[in-house]
Amino acid sequence: MFDDRRENLIQKAIYDFEMVLREQMDRVDRMKDGGDCPYCDINKGVTIGLIGGDGIGPVIMKEAERLLKKLLADEIDSGRVTLKKIDGLTIENRTALGKSVPDDVLAEIKSCDVLLKGPTTTPKGGTMESANVALRRELDLYANVRPVSVPEEGIDWTFFRENTEGEYVLGSRGIEIPGRLTMDFKVTTEPGTRRIARAAFDFARANGKTKVAIVTKANIMKKTDGSFSRICHEIAAEYPEIQADDWYVDIMTANLVNKNIRNQFQVFLLPNLYGDIITDEAAEIQGGVGTAGSANLGSKYAMFEAIHGSAPRMVEEGLAEYANPSSIFKAAEMMIRQLGFTDKADRLADALYICGEKEKSIVVTGTAGGAKCMEYADYIMSKL
Ligand code: IPM
Ligand code: MG
Repeated sequence: MFDDRRENLIQKAIYDFEMVLREQMDRVDRMKDGGDCPYCDINKGVTIGLIGGDGIGPVIMKEAERLLKKLLADEIDSGRVTLKKIDGLTIENRTALGKSVPDDVLAEIKSCDVLLKGPTTTPKGGTMESANVALRRELDLYANVRPVSVPEEGIDWTFFRENTEGEYVLGSRGIEIPGRLTMDFKVTTEPGTRRIARAAFDFARANGKTKVAIVTKANIMKKTDGSFSRICHEIAAEYPEIQADDWYVDIMTANLVNKNIRNQFQVFLLPNLYGDIITDEAAEIQGGVGTAGSANLGSKYAMFEAIHGSAPRMVEEGLAEYANPSSIFKAAEMMIRQLGFTDKADRLADALYICGEKEKSIVVTGTAGGAKCMEYADYIMSKL
């Protein structure tokens, strides 16, 4: 017997799928391969947007603002650098307005060249999209670059995580047939993969790296990861001096905890979700997610942030003041390096190394037994 209700559910799902397919086709048609980078020319002057975020975000961002005012004092005085505080990207405001990035906040953000952003809370389930994901899409920040280094072990890794598609682009747009099944979509596009691959190989070439590890699960996700790997190898052919190796994400996860081989890896190139997971693992090897910075680069804007989340548990337990500012400071270092202030970035990197690895006179533990965020920030700033 023909089941009307079942047929209706299927037709509705087909309609929803048609819509997302059409949108994604349009996105591919609009997408450019890389492009110029206005924020790379500091001679034009640069506006840095500062976004507090949620949870421990405002606490660590307060210190980041102090740090930038100290480090870039001359540039701020001469008007070459403008710091602009952007309010309103809070979970309360976003929930009240039902928008992951409210329109007026997005307009403010787009009036800047680069952004330094505290973590934002992402509600689990529901339909509210993560503010991070929405911003990466709205600003087309396709390259998520995450360096991890453990000098005493010879580890110097740079992760190039595709940041605008994969499992994330339709992560809030899956199909649900209540009581029966749910489906999410993963998208790999030709131009989207070409541009992240080019970013990784350009970085490798510019930094004397000899190997790029392409990390997928192409034996299982045959279409999306299969084409990700194929396109990366097509780009690799333009860089004959660099070796491109295929790895599956499961064994790569194991490799990173294998001390005998892990220092042989240099540059990693991964689709979005694997990049998300593996970079947390890598950060932990470096000393914790509180220590790693993250750059979201596009051809028009760039956004720098801590790799960790907003830590609502720390806030609930009254420990927000004890948050570690190292990750957002690392992000600030990446930002000023990207803007071309190499000496200042080097000075900050040295200060972070002295305080976090070499001297460790003050230690942040995330508990009331450790230093406060502000004390540790003072310590780092005293070493600049
Ligand atoms: C990250 C975070 C984000 C992500 C969250 C906050 C949406 O985990 O930047 O790695 O999943 O990309
Ligand atoms: Mg993550």
